[in-house]
Amino acid sequence: MIEAQNLTKVFGATRAVDGVSFQVQPGEIYGFLGPNGAGKTTTIRLLTGTLFPTSGQVQILNMDMVSQEIRIKQEIGVVPDEPRLYENLKGSEYIDFVTDIYRLRKQEILPEVKELCDAFAIDFLDKAIGEYSHGMKQKLMLLSVLMRKPKALFLDEPTVGLDARSARILKMLLEKYAAGGAPIFMTTHIMEIAEKMCHRIAIINKGKLVAEGTMEELRKASGEQNATLEDIFLQVTGTGGDIEELVKEL
Ligand SMILES: Nc1ncnc2c1ncn2[C@@H]1O[C@H](COP(=O)(O)OP(=O)(O)O)[C@@H](O)[C@H]1O
Ligand SMILES: [Mg+2]
Repeated sequence: MIEAQNLTKVFGATRAVDGVSFQVQPGEIYGFLGPNGAGKTTTIRLLTGTLFPTSGQVQILNMDMVSQEIRIKQEIGVVPDEPRLYENLKGSEYIDFVTDIYRLRKQEILPEVKELCDAFAIDFLDKAIGEYSHGMKQKLMLLSVLMRKPKALFLDEPTVGLDARSARILKMLLEKYAAGGAPIFMTTHIMEIAEKMCHRIAIINKGKLVAEGTMEELRKASGEQNATLEDIFLQVTGTGGDIEELVKEL
């Protein structure tokens, strides 16, 4: 349902994404974990047609990104890490704008909009977006995406900026969407989020996939039955080695 085949993106001398392949099944929440600069945002941009790959293929909902880009974009929902919103618009005007470009019927989505506003405590739609905090923009973005009931969801660091209650509600909503059959691809650099929210986790480091599986599979592969995701992460990204030494010297 979401498929990357040998996906590669080169920026100058940087191989931001380097031969990455994976599949996300219908109903699965797939967590894409990695250190800063590992290639998470680049991967999500390739998957959602915002960037063209240097090589490799993307298939979403059994459609090919090259030949069916527009149809894919009509069906999917994308929550980017830095929502780029029109600062001069009010939240409500942005919602109307999205309603128009996706040709939705305002009356039909109204109940969904109301429920999402209640769930995320969105009571600021009559304010200009320029006055919003990061968390408020994130919530507006979630509202504008989820109200469309997309058939596949892509979220880049979705919980950054959200308060605890909203993060909990997002988690429950994603589980509901997944239970309805949508594949969900989510990046995060926070272990706890990956562990709590995702059915399967992939770890990317320097553009390459270095681990993939359920928590149980990851533990098995690490050779440590009691390993935490953090232990596994530090092991496979090779970033854990001399932490204690380093701290001693500081
Ligand atoms: N538009 C771009 N031009 C040049 N380099 C880029 C661009 N976007 C990302 N990169 C580089 O690609 C690598 C991966 O970045 P990114 O995908 O944003 O990582 P992450 O989201 O995992 O933190 C980094 O080295 C970053 O500097
Ligand atoms: Mg990123």
